[in-house]
Amino acid sequence: MSTVVKMDEKVRESYLAERVATLKPSGIRKFFDIVATMKDVISLGIGEPDFNTPPSILQAGIRSLELGQTHYTSNAGILELRLALAKHLERMYGVSYDPVKEIIITVGVSEALYLALTALLDPGEEVIIPTPCFVAYQAEVTLAGGVPVEVPSKMEDNFQLCPDKIEEAITPRTKAILIGYPNNPTGAVASRETLVELLRVAEKYDLVVISDEIYDQLVYGIKHVCFPALAGAQPRTLLLGGFSKDYAMTGWRIGYAAGPAELMQGLLRIHQYTIMSAPTTAQAAALEALAHGQAYVDEMIAEYNRRRELIVPGLNRLGLPTFEPRGAFYAFPQITATGMDEETFSQRLLEEERVAVVPGSAFGAGGEGFVRCSYATAYEKIEEALRRIEHFMHRYG
Ligand SMILES: Cc1ncc(COP(=O)(O)O)c(C=O)c1O
Repeated sequence: MSTVVKMDEKVRESYLAERVATLKPSGIRKFFDIVATMKDVISLGIGEPDFNTPPSILQAGIRSLELGQTHYTSNAGILELRLALAKHLERMYGVSYDPVKEIIITVGVSEALYLALTALLDPGEEVIIPTPCFVAYQAEVTLAGGVPVEVPSKMEDNFQLCPDKIEEAITPRTKAILIGYPNNPTGAVASRETLVELLRVAEKYDLVVISDEIYDQLVYGIKHVCFPALAGAQPRTLLLGGFSKDYAMTGWRIGYAAGPAELMQGLLRIHQYTIMSAPTTAQAAALEALAHGQAYVDEMIAEYNRRRELIVPGLNRLGLPTFEPRGAFYAFPQITATGMDEETFSQRLLEEERVAVVPGSAFGAGGEGFVRCSYATAYEKIEEALRRIEHFMHRYG
């Protein structure tokens, strides 16, 4: 007679793989769950453009559906899009990729990250991550069986990554360095000199560099430095990019990975078994974005810049020292003058003034004592948020 084991809640939970069970929930989600239950909240917590997808890009998606393009595409994505992307990267940064062997269209940079890390990491291998950084980096490394090693950067250093500190963190188990500039959450951009120094370190220890450049076009008064465009960098770099932020296309779920063919075939193997192909409609829209999207992007950049010029001096004036962000759409004020930690500050600001920001510690080491304020929200709302923060600072400043 066979015995029947009842699978109660505790037992079921114990079935989760250790690397999943031990994963911390995102510090961002917790706040959004609270915000969703409240009225009259001004959210500076959002990490996506408040603009809708520009009309001609939208129409290209609709047209593709009407034309019956409702099927899978080739695993790596439609060749036309890969060709357009290769041309775009060449034109923007002078970096050249073979559209057949060196580019994969993915479900956002999220999937590209997953592919890159899963393809590269054997169990226990380490990935060095300058922090503060996008909330998914550490988790994605853990999910891929690797070990994230955080190297914090500081406001005093303009949140630049520090190649010397990265070198100190290298061990025989280090496989890759994962960088993201323009940076979420600080808005910092990496200077060419710093990136060249980082490349020297990667060369010295023969490491792969994964460069998440999802905010590449959202820069203010400077030129973005594309990591693989640095002399000698391309053979050891996986470039991740996308359409979510530059073209206000977060919901379409479309991005790409580009890199040396030998590595890309590894990414493609995972992609074809897990995803098959990125959404067909989104690929058609992305093609239009590359062909005719520049004017829209320029308009959005001008508006983000206007808001940046409102929020950064605004926060500084209120006694919250804020480093000048030159990219993405985030300001990262230091809140230690209030005597609160970032969690308490965010919680009280939400409860007492109905302004949502994200505690800096959600973005890893170096985020303590800071909060992230997104300016991907309307100018008037930022004005009102600043008024509310002013009331708050009268009590706690
Ligand atoms: C730095 C960074 N990388 C990747 C992503 C994910 O983007 P996607 O929508 O392309 O998956 C985000 C989204 O916030 C991000 O900030």
